[in-house]
Amino acid sequence: MKITLSVIKADVGGYVGHSDCHPQLLTRADEYLAKALGDGLLIDYHVTKCGDDLQLIMTHQQGEDSKEVHKLAWDTFVGCTEVAKQLKLHGAGQDLLADAFSSNVRGMGPGVSEMEFEERGSEAVIVFMADKTSAGAWNLPLYKIFADPFNTIGLVIAENMHQGFLFEVHDIKDAKKITFKAPEEIYDLLVFIGAPSRYMVKAVYHRETGNIAAASSTQRLSLIAGRYVGKDDPVCIVRSQGEFPAVGEVLEPFSLPFLVAGWMRGSHLGPLMPVAMADSTPARFDGPPRVMAFGFQLSGGKLVGPRDMFADKSFDNARQQANDVADYLRAHGPFEPHRLPLEEMEYTTMPQVMKKLEAKFTPLG
Ligand code: F6R
Ligand code: MG
Ligand code: MG
Repeated sequence: MKITLSVIKADVGGYVGHSDCHPQLLTRADEYLAKALGDGLLIDYHVTKCGDDLQLIMTHQQGEDSKEVHKLAWDTFVGCTEVAKQLKLHGAGQDLLADAFSSNVRGMGPGVSEMEFEERGSEAVIVFMADKTSAGAWNLPLYKIFADPFNTIGLVIAENMHQGFLFEVHDIKDAKKITFKAPEEIYDLLVFIGAPSRYMVKAVYHRETGNIAAASSTQRLSLIAGRYVGKDDPVCIVRSQGEFPAVGEVLEPFSLPFLVAGWMRGSHLGPLMPVAMADSTPARFDGPPRVMAFGFQLSGGKLVGPRDMFADKSFDNARQQANDVADYLRAHGPFEPHRLPLEEMEYTTMPQVMKKLEAKFTPLG
């Protein structure tokens, strides 16, 4: 049975500030998706949130980029924006960058990760959702999951994974893509994906079966809007078990709270803290950035779950380390590398300050 799993998300208003999503937004979203389920457009859905981002996890048989499913997501976000406006939530409708829906939500503000596949006898999937960080945050974990034998022992000792995976990488500045073969091209791959502000792993495929293994959202809000409108807060779907890495191999990269761009005003480097949904409430300095992992078993497209994977105690040390790293980085105040380099900052006063002081600058020597 061919299933499409679509995760479409947007920040349509924060509660309080940019720290959380109001429960009434989740209720409104549920009403829209319940109706679509009744109408037969969806097979199943789960509405959740990560920080101030509303997350629509949907299964259906309309394929990727379906106009009907994307319109449903758009209408849901518009409906939730009405609630956000009534409650005067912060930044109501902030990620809806277009005036009206056209053919799909790509390029209109919401983040999208979708994949169509033949449901296996047992289909375990993990949906990752992040807040206060950029698209590109998945490069490091996807590399570790699908190309690093120190993370994924299955690459070494499981026959159905030993041949490796294909990485589809997008250059989001020049709108180009390229595919790399792991393991033999990992040095070339890393030249690009080690620079996640520009090069992003869009998808990963099994080399022998050609089956899709992972898909991430690569929308960069600032490139769409041409100005800062909020962080991308990306999502990523990873299939697990059998010919794909085991659940524990998929979660393992997050035992390190690696550094990502985002945090306060989208202009800082901070540790990505793995959290349960209840703890996806960025607080200190609007952070530190968070990542959630919801696990599902699919059954005829039904979403059996979620299991909140990072609620587990085995991620306590990562959370502690993230808080220690946050202390260390915060002590740098407005200095790089805590503050992002000038061209990466989402907020800046540089043009105004420069204009004011231009006449006072004198040549060196
Ligand atoms: C970062 C983020 C927040 C805001 C900050 C200022 O992604 O969302 O750190 O940038 O709270 O928000 P505004 O400009 O909405 O007052
Ligand atoms: Mg927000
Ligand atoms: Mg957010």
